[in-house]
Formats: sequence, structure tokens, C-alpha cells
Amino acid sequence: MTEAVLLVGGQGTRLRPLTVNTPKPMLPVAGVPFTVHQITRARDAGVTRIVLATSYRADVFREFIEDADLGIDVVIATEDEPLGTGGAIRHALPHLESGSDDPVLIFNGDVLSGLDIAGLVRHHRDSRSDVTLYLTPVEDPRAYGLVPTDATGRVQAFLEKPKTEAEIVTNTINAGCYVFTRSVIDRIPAGRPVSVERETFPGLLAEGALVTGVVDTGYWLDLGTPLSFVQGSVDLVLGRAPSPAVTSTGEALLLPGASVAPDARVIGGSAIGRDAVVGAGAIVDGAVVFDGATIAEGARVENSIVGAGAVVGAGTVLCGAVIGDGAVLGRGNELLDGARVWPGAHLADGSVRFSSDA
Ligand code: GTP
Repeated sequence: MTEAVLLVGGQGTRLRPLTVNTPKPMLPVAGVPFTVHQITRARDAGVTRIVLATSYRADVFREFIEDADLGIDVVIATEDEPLGTGGAIRHALPHLESGSDDPVLIFNGDVLSGLDIAGLVRHHRDSRSDVTLYLTPVEDPRAYGLVPTDATGRVQAFLEKPKTEAEIVTNTINAGCYVFTRSVIDRIPAGRPVSVERETFPGLLAEGALVTGVVDTGYWLDLGTPLSFVQGSVDLVLGRAPSPAVTSTGEALLLPGASVAPDARVIGGSAIGRDAVVGAGAIVDGAVVFDGATIAEGARVENSIVGAGAVVGAGTVLCGAVIGDGAVLGRGNELLDGARVWPGAHLADGSVRFSSDA
């Protein structure tokens, strides 16, 4: 048996306002809550039991899991106050059934990857590591935690978000999935916030524990920002990213009840939610449209996310925008490059022309 802890308690501030009502891992990506892609990948890799470590909007997870049949045992652990990544892992400990020498997988709840999960666990056992980290190479590592290793794969340091060129000593970053030997989880302090990246990992290195990194060059994406969220959905719909929860791939995914006018174009890996409507002549390109939203005639929606039940008025143009649930955008508006509209907001016809470059 292999157990896993899935960290899903963060507030998802970078994805506001979508995360005002729905926690990030429960937002629909290629037709299902993002967490379903992760749970089914873990299941297919041999994980038999998952503890969902929740905090922010834990109720949304509980409701979903009660009715879902994901072919795997899912247990929910809820922190009263957010305990951070390390604190959440420690809080999940009483829910784990693994023995003290067993490997326990930990997943950040916002990473889409093609990682060989079973291979990572094998590497952890074979190398007798205390902790084994999944590392991925990135072109520009400045926004991430760098993890340099020696020639044997032993981790040498954890360097949070380098600021100068001299600090960029490697392009391999912490990719948000680890294997802990269970007894190492026992030693994380209980009952207070702990950051696994800033406290637990550096502490383990300081005491001489064996922390190993495994570099995997396959698909990896952190869905934390609006642009990467759209990218993840597009990659799943087009079949560029792997997930057992995506059964057919193609230019677009239309969920049951979605209606698209015959002369509208839904392309570029777009996903159209249940009962959503795309009107005559509208173009939806590389976008995510949540359930019950309306894209009126002649509107153009590119690289954007349209929240549940939102209305994009006729001829309105969205490019790189995030529209909150239930917002109503009148006709002829233009929202470009990072524009965000809060849930339930109303924009009158022709009232907004927003671009961060303007
Ligand atoms: P931002 O606020 O946009 O940075 O997103 P986030 O809240 O998801 O934070 P971050 O990306 O740093 O978190 C990494 C992972 O850990 C995510 O899957 C979070 O859901 C999860 N996480 C962060 N803090 C906590 C916490 O206090 N408790 C639990 N259970 N999970 C957490």
C-alpha cells in the first residue's frame, strides 16, 4: 500500500477572484475539478489511500468527495487554522496508516505533471533517503525555490527565489511532489504553522539527513496564475498533458449541455462548461468557460477564464482576462492583459477598455 497527502488548503490568492468561492484545486480544468487529475494519476501509479489536507473552503472538498467515486480511498483532514505546507503534512499524520519506515507521497495541490510517481517512490526506497524530491528544470528559475544536487543526487541546499544572477546556481527547482519516510513526518512540530520549504527541508539538511532529488524532464506546470491555469486546461484538452480523467482530446472540450452556435469557433484547446452558451459568430480560443456562462454573439475570448454563470456581452473582447462568477459584462467592452472582474460585478455597455499596457 502507498499512501499520499494532497496539500489543498491554500488560499490561491494569485487566482483571485476565481478562488473567492472555490478553492484552487476545485476549479474546473478540462471538465473536472483540478484535484481529480491529481488523484486519478496517483491512483493509477499505485497509491491506494489519499489524505486531502484542507483548510481554506474545506466544505467545498467535503461536499465533492462525499459524492465522487474516484476508485481510491480519500480521507479529509481539515486544519482549523492554516498550518502551512509542513504543518499540514504533520496534521495529516494521525490519518495515515503507513508504518514508520514506509514511504508517504506528498503532492502540492496545484501541479500538473507527467512525473513517473511509482519511479519516484522506488528511487526513495532504493536510495534509503529520508526525503526524496521531484525536481524539474525550468528556463527562468527566478520565481521558484532552487534545489542544487551533487553528482549522486544528494540535495545540497534549498535556495528560495534567487534575486541576483550569482544566486542562480542551478535551473532545477522544487516541483511540488515529495516522498517522506513516515518517521520523518513524525518529527515535524505539531500544532503550529511550518513551511516545508523554509523550515523542514533546510532543517533536515542541517542535521545531515539524506535528502535526494530526482530530476524529471517530462511535462510540468504549476497552475497558480491565471495564464498557467488556462495553459494547463488547454494542454489537457489538446492531449499535451497526461491525465486519466481526460478521456478524449481535441481542439475543444464541450461538456454536457453546452451549446455552441454553428458559426461560432471554439478552438485552441478551449473548454466550455455544462450548460454554457457560445453565441453566433463568437470566437473562443485557448480559454476556459465555466458552467452556465454565456459568451454572446460576436464576442472574442482568448487566453481567458470566464467564471460560472458570467455573461460576456456581444462584441466584447477578452484576452488574458479573468472574469469572476456571475459577473455581467455589457456589449463592446475590451479587457486585456491581466484584467480581472470581481464576482457579480456589472460593466455597462462600452464602458471599459482595460489593458495593463495602456
Ligand atoms: P497562492 O496564494 O496563489 O500562492 O496559492 P496557494 O494558496 O496554493 O499557495 P502555494 O502555491 O504556495 O501552496 C502550495 C500548495 O500547498 C498548494 O497546493 C496549497 O493548496 C497548499 N497549501 C499552502 N498552504 C497550506 C496550508 O496552510 N494548509 C494546507 N492544507 N495546504 C496548504
